[in-house]
Amino acid sequence: MTEFSTIYKLSLVALTCFLHVCSSRSSSNKCPVLECWFVQEKAGRGGGFTAPTTQEKSLLYIRRDPDSHSAESQHTPDDINPERVYFVTDPAATLCHASLNPPRGSITKPLCEINPFLPQPSSLKWVAPLTESALSPIYLQAEWFSSALQGLNDQMGISTITRAPTGSKEHRVVLSVTSKTVSVQARLGKPVLLDCSFWVDPSSPLSGSGFAVEWRYQFRGEGRLVLAYDGKTDRLADTKEKGARLDIEALHKTGNASLVLEEAKVRHSGTYICTAYLPYLLAQVTMELEIVEPPSLSIHPSPLPLIVPGQALSVQCEASGFAPLTLELSWEFKGADGKSRPLGSGSLTGHRQAWDGTYSQSTRLELDTSKLDLGTGGEVNCVAVHPGGRREARVTLNVIGFSTPSIEDSMAMVGVALVLYGLIKFVSWTFTSSGSAEADMEDKKVK
Ligand SMILES: *[C@@H]1O[C@H](CO)[C@@H](O)[C@H](O)[C@H]1NC(C)=O
Repeated sequence: MTEFSTIYKLSLVALTCFLHVCSSRSSSNKCPVLECWFVQEKAGRGGGFTAPTTQEKSLLYIRRDPDSHSAESQHTPDDINPERVYFVTDPAATLCHASLNPPRGSITKPLCEINPFLPQPSSLKWVAPLTESALSPIYLQAEWFSSALQGLNDQMGISTITRAPTGSKEHRVVLSVTSKTVSVQARLGKPVLLDCSFWVDPSSPLSGSGFAVEWRYQFRGEGRLVLAYDGKTDRLADTKEKGARLDIEALHKTGNASLVLEEAKVRHSGTYICTAYLPYLLAQVTMELEIVEPPSLSIHPSPLPLIVPGQALSVQCEASGFAPLTLELSWEFKGADGKSRPLGSGSLTGHRQAWDGTYSQSTRLELDTSKLDLGTGGEVNCVAVHPGGRREARVTLNVIGFSTPSIEDSMAMVGVALVLYGLIKFVSWTFTSSGSAEADMEDKKVK
């Protein structure tokens, strides 16, 4: 009996430990209290092109359901106006992502900005069908905020539209759009996935009345439409973009609006904006794509000709097919002692751009044996440092020593001498024979 009770007690202890671990684990993933900048246009000052704005600190208590009030007991910092403290219910728990909840005392904080939002019908071709009924429901007469958040280490970009009954501080997420690929690097020719998904509160009257999704591209002030899909009429807008696709089925089923570019090209580098539309509402996340391709290197001449002390030789290294333009080219020499030493960057040419948008650049190095101590030779390396990685190309340099020729050197010299002798013989033979032929011709003409 005592044995039984011991086992019973032990298992009870184990169970409490287990529950404790579980609860502490879930609390580590609990919804955060977010510090946000509340940014709005200054009231009563119109007429300018850029409206002046005010910026105030605000605090958002995030929770999964409106009944969990645990967070509210927390103390509000003194520098935050109590008027700017909000309670946000997010049933999808998007705002409870770990990247928005850094450990206490961490220096880097997630970025967060809130703006007042005005629901309105859109005139875009692929969005207009959503508000065809032209009703402006009472539901819209409320306080609406749009928030943009960015988690730590670019893990997550989130944008939400929240609604609170007029005069209330209790907001509820109605629409959220997220991306896990805030900053993407891709190699040339590879497929690229730009992640984007959206969520609509099923209890909102706006849910079920259709949605639209749009992908835009921007680079240095230039923009273009990549894809647009009207989920209500199941129509893709005509765009010039080739090799870009959405999974329409996944879009309807799970709100997965990810864009796939089938083959990365240099011209794809830039900013992408994924926007989800509901009737009267929109939320968007932006992401950066950079196509990064390291250079291919080639050295000319290769192999290098033999040189003798006092002679100079010019070597060229060409880096091609790289993007972006950021590249550092340099030379190194590795002597017989196995030690590497820098030879500088040589004389660089300007860069050229190929049809596919990749760049090329080259550098020329003067290997002057009278100025550089190259010994009996070694390895000449061309080194390229690029955001896509470090690349090297090498050639062997042979300096034939005159002072103390080694056996190989002597043999090489004998070889060279023989070849030269042969060449001279051959050339003189050709000349004399053609010379005599010409002389014969001359003779014939005279006759
Ligand atoms: C979304 O769709 C893309 C392909 O279109 C897929 O690669 C990705 O895994 C999907 N994401 C989720 C969360 O299912």
